[in-house]
Amino acid sequence: MNSDNADIGLIGLAVMGQNLALNIADHGYTIAVYNRSPEKTEEFMAHCKREEPSCERVLGFTDLQEFTQAIRRPRKIVLLVKAGAPTDRTIESLLPHLEPGDIIVDGGNAHWLDTIRREKELTAKGFLFIGSGVSGGETGARFGPSLMPGGSLTAWAELEPIWRAIAAKVDPQSGAPLGGAVPGKPVEGGVPCTAYLGPNGAGHYVKMVHNGIEYIDMQLICEAYWLMKNLLGLDAGAIGAIFREWNAGELSSYLIEITGDILQQKDPAGDGFLVDQVLDAAGQKGTGQWTAASALELGAPANSIAEAVFARALSALKEERVEASQLLKGPDIQPAADSAALLDAIRNALYCSKICAYAQGFQLLSEAQKTYGWQLDFGTIAQLWRGGCIIRARFLQKITDAYARNPDLKNLVLDPYFKDVLHEGQSRWRQTVALAVSNGVPVPAFGSALAYFDGYRSARLPANLLQMQRDYFGAHTYERTDHARGKFFHLDWPAPDRPQMEV
Ligand code: 6PG
Repeated sequence: MNSDNADIGLIGLAVMGQNLALNIADHGYTIAVYNRSPEKTEEFMAHCKREEPSCERVLGFTDLQEFTQAIRRPRKIVLLVKAGAPTDRTIESLLPHLEPGDIIVDGGNAHWLDTIRREKELTAKGFLFIGSGVSGGETGARFGPSLMPGGSLTAWAELEPIWRAIAAKVDPQSGAPLGGAVPGKPVEGGVPCTAYLGPNGAGHYVKMVHNGIEYIDMQLICEAYWLMKNLLGLDAGAIGAIFREWNAGELSSYLIEITGDILQQKDPAGDGFLVDQVLDAAGQKGTGQWTAASALELGAPANSIAEAVFARALSALKEERVEASQLLKGPDIQPAADSAALLDAIRNALYCSKICAYAQGFQLLSEAQKTYGWQLDFGTIAQLWRGGCIIRARFLQKITDAYARNPDLKNLVLDPYFKDVLHEGQSRWRQTVALAVSNGVPVPAFGSALAYFDGYRSARLPANLLQMQRDYFGAHTYERTDHARGKFFHLDWPAPDRPQMEV
């Protein structure tokens, strides 16, 4: 077996691992690959030799020691195994074959606290660790994913050339993704969708927020589809055509594009459109839930991201919903009188809600960096989401531009471009939500995004009353508007005329 020959190693030959390995080989790097079950490695190597022009640079191993010996030092080994315990087990089995200074790169959807822990443990043992988000599914991994690394800077210096080579590329001026790669012939030039994001768990945290945004982006699109179906009586094919049209404008994004395709897909097993035959109960692997939980913990108002997770949970109660539909009645749906106006209103609602959802994601990142001691560059994050990943979208360039204009921007909705869009679109956004509510069509994502916008732009909210309720039943104290913040009072309730005590 070749010794000390490979530039990099990769463990885990499921779909993502196979495609990332081929992408690395396409870029001229020699890669050693290993999988826990040897059959998987053999199958992959057989496929590789048959079909892949870059296979001469892929070395397959069924023995872990031979695999590690084939990699040049300091070894760089990418793990693409299941997050959680399987990642820990893989690291444990790998360590006896490594030497101090070797680098482990976890490319799975790891929980950022696991990444922080692993980085600490491995550093103590003399190894270097990078937790890197990898987004873009199978095709992204093969032809250019968005890569979100965090961890050891020394390790990043070693990994960076490979990560930059294999990442998706965008046009330096417009930020538009450069496509067209085929096996063996990668895209040349462009700005790579990867950058070092910060120490320990920063990369995996950013990837998790990407996924939280992915959840809300998808839910918003689903609500737009549902309104068109229910209030306009359009069939899936017609709705698909509208999404295709929208994809040519400001909403242009991967998720809008695939929605156009999906809705126009005919049922291979019968007449009509496939979407009408698919069960309306969504699963989830957990990263959206992690995002919402982290927002709750940090006190970041990412209400729409949380709503998107809850919407999946409600959808999953299929049998219960079917029963309830026989028992609970809502209003009869009134078909819309002016379909062109409603379509325009839904498009506005989608764009305005999307802006608020991203604002929540970035606000969460901003809270997280304070807690975890990171210094995230929001413009760069938007830039590396511009290509390769699931939430890639034209409007991310507007986010990069917004942070370039003002690196200290408190909230995206305050940027002049986004502010104008929201001012312009809000009346149609409100009409859409109002119409959905009066017809009994659930729009938790549109509605929560609007509530976020209205809450954020309110100088006063009813939390004054809330503070008093807390003080009444639990002596939790309250602050006054006519005193400096941080000065707390308590009333001996119930006695409105009794003097308040400073506490
Ligand atoms: C990506 C995706 C990916 C995620 C799937 C499934 O960036 O490529 O986010 O990492 O695993 O989208 O996620 P759910 O099963 O939670 O929907």
